Amino acid sequence: MKKTKILFVCLGNICRSPLAHAVFEDMVKKAGREDEFEIESCGTGAWHVGSLPDERMRAEAAKHGIEMTHRGRTLQVLDFEYYDLILPMDLSNKQNLLDKALGDDKDKIKLFRSFDPLAEDEYAEVPDPYYGGKEGFSNVYKIVERTCENMLKAL
Ligand code: 4NP
Repeated sequence: MKKTKILFVCLGNICRSPLAHAVFEDMVKKAGREDEFEIESCGTGAWHVGSLPDERMRAEAAKHGIEMTHRGRTLQVLDFEYYDLILPMDLSNKQNLLDKALGDDKDKIKLFRSFDPLAEDEYAEVPDPYYGGKEGFSNVYKIVERTCENMLKAL
């Protein structure tokens, strides 16, 4: 079977997109559907290349039994051709991707929360928790969990 290749994208690739990456991977594994998906994440910025996710995000994930081991990776030009679904966490990441993608590859780019059953509208974002407090990280976790759940059902 041809795998659906999914790329989660945020700014730093140390909070939101590696969380979605780890949570979706865990759900796929628990559903016994590992042969259907290839999952990766990256950042539009390159500051955290090679780093483990932010420790506040890892602590929140650990509370839910999710281990985050991804190492920061920045967006590559070839990602547009390689991945089937490219899912930015916010509108700024989305615009950044649209500016770089060519032709039909632009159609692969969809806001991650387009899969969120509780999204208030089509512009719903996963808020950047980096400069905020702990509650921002638990809010990100809730959004990511229900969005990944619904996404797995939809795919
Ligand atoms: P992320 O959060 O995009 O969810 O990984 C951020 C991480 C780092 C920075 C910004 C956002 N930063 O400016 O270094």
